[in-house]
Order: sequence, then structure tokens, then C-alpha cells
Amino acid sequence: MSPSPDDDAPEDPSPKIDLAPAAFVTFWVTVAAFCVAGFGESSTWLIVGCVLALGSLALSFAAAALSAKDPLSGLLRGAGVVVVQAMMTLPLLLWAGLENVSASPKGRLLHLRGRARLARVSFGGGWRPRPKETPRPRLPSSVVERAVAAEVWHLAARAEHASVPAFSKLSLQLVALGAPSSLVEGAHRAALQEIDHARRCFALSEGYGGLPWDPGALPELADSLAAPSRRPDLVGLARGSLRDGCVGEGVAAAMAEALANGADDPSVAETLRVIAADEAEHAELSWAVVAWCLDAGGATVRAALREEAARLDDHRAAALPDQTPISPERARALGLPHAALAEQLARLGVQRARERLTTML
Ligand SMILES: [Fe+2]
Ligand SMILES: [Fe+2]
Repeated sequence: MSPSPDDDAPEDPSPKIDLAPAAFVTFWVTVAAFCVAGFGESSTWLIVGCVLALGSLALSFAAAALSAKDPLSGLLRGAGVVVVQAMMTLPLLLWAGLENVSASPKGRLLHLRGRARLARVSFGGGWRPRPKETPRPRLPSSVVERAVAAEVWHLAARAEHASVPAFSKLSLQLVALGAPSSLVEGAHRAALQEIDHARRCFALSEGYGGLPWDPGALPELADSLAAPSRRPDLVGLARGSLRDGCVGEGVAAAMAEALANGADDPSVAETLRVIAADEAEHAELSWAVVAWCLDAGGATVRAALREEAARLDDHRAAALPDQTPISPERARALGLPHAALAEQLARLGVQRARERLTTML
């Protein structure tokens, strides 16, 4: 009896592993990693996100390797899947980590309903500086460094842009409360300087990344203009000026100066020097506002400032998280803020602000 064709067929040595469930699990683990890293408020959450992402890479590797016919092709298949997934996941994690930067206080940001607000993102180049003031950075050879620098300057530009309406709001509050003309003038000058900072930062972002980002609309600001707003008072003005101005802009000035001294690119150093000088002026304006509030408000403002000073410990400066693929040395050479420097300057800024406030109370 002749054998049937089925009896002749070689036995398939490959294990029967269905990749679909593994792909499903790794997809959701990756999404969870992205969310944890992006929405967490501290670098601890970024670490948790990275661990989750590495876990999903390990799962992908195991699933791909076990579905192959022999160990060598399993190894190659697993490595291929890991490379593709890492290319998709790591930029997301990096972006998520960098988004944390924008959540950190950076000087006087626009606060609406208790939250810092940034404009939407748009394209167009309408926020370019005049040609003579346009910084033209030297491009680092590393693609990662270029991408990180473009993203950091883009986030800085959005924060600078959000400072413009913050100073407009300050000038309205000062006028409403009967402040002297020097303070109102200072608020308007500061708003114009923030426009200049935003333009320079957008130009640096475009220089590194090639994309002409612009600030888009800020719907939350439009809503707040249409809605009845909180009545300005001396206590709120004094508290906000101490926190965002005296400390926030003081730390931003110290940071910009430190970065300017370490940057090896003259156009980056010059941008940082302009920002450092202006932010120091803004911090002094805030001290003048605090002094005027104390004069006009007396004991109530004094008590509120004491309370606000005790809460300053959680101040964070805007900086790259620890886990970026750029070392502190390279970050310094590129003029990018790094976590260790930011923490040191924020601690020093809070300490100095407390000492100065004590002499005023
Ligand atoms: Fe600024
Ligand atoms: Fe400022």
C-alpha cells in the first residue's frame, strides 16, 4: 500500500505560538508606560514608565523568539521585533518626559483656574525675531541631540509665550488695585520682553529641528475673558508675585545665566544672556510689587506672605529629566537645562527668597 501524501510530509518543528495575544499585551503595556511617564508629575513616574516600556520590549522579544523554528532564527526574529518596537516606543517616552518639563514652573506663567496654561501648537513662523536677532545655532552631529534641543527650545518658547498674557494680567491687577505707575510700566515692559524671548526660543527650535512652530490659540484664556473672574486683591497679588516672580523668575534668571556660561554655541549663549538679564529684571519687579502690597495691605498681606514662604519648598525649575539620552556635560555644552543643575538652583532660589522676604516683614 502506498503511503498517503500526508504521511510523507516532514513534521513541523516550530512551536505553535500565537503572536496576537502577546502583541495585544505589549501594545497596552507600552501605552501604560507612555501614560505613566507623561502624566506623572515627577521623575519617579518617568522611571516607572521606562521600566514598563522595557518590560514590554522583553515580552515582545520572548513572544517573537518562541514562535520561530530554531534558536538562531528565534534570536534574530526577537531582536528585529525589539528594534522596531524600541524605535516606536523610546521617542514617545522621551517626548513624555520632556512634556514634564513644561509642567514645571518657569517664571511667571499664565495661570487660569489654578493651572498653568500654554497655547496650542501651530505652524507658520509668525513668531520669528527680526533677522538680526535670529539665533542660528550650530547643529550637533547627533540626531538625538538635535531632536532634544529642538523639543526643549520649543517647550521653552511656549512657556515664554504664556508669560506674555501673565504680565498683561498682572498689569490689569496692578491698575485695578491702584498701584504706582512704575509697577504698571514694569509689567508692560516685561510683557514685551517675553514676546522677544518667545520669538528667540521659537527660532532656536526651528534652527535645531527645521520646523517653524508657532503658538496657536489659547482657548482657556478666551474662556476666562468671557467668564466672570476672581476679584483681584492685594493678598493674591502678593502671594503670586512671591511664588512666580521673586522665586520663579529669580530661578529662571540664575538658570539662564548658568547655561549661558556653559554653552559653547555663541548664538545660544547670547539668547540665554538676554533672557537672564530680563528675567532678573522681572524678579526685581516682583519684589517691588511685593513691597507695595505690604505697604498697602499691612498685617493681612504680611501673614499671607509668611504662609506662602513656608510653602515654597516644592518649587521646581524647568529642566530635562534625568533619563534623557544626553549627559549633563553635553546638555551644558548645548545650553540645555539639566535636572541636577535645576534642583540646585531652585533650592538656592527658595532659600535666598526666604532670607530677603524676612528682611521685609
Ligand atoms: Fe521670559
Ligand atoms: Fe519673565
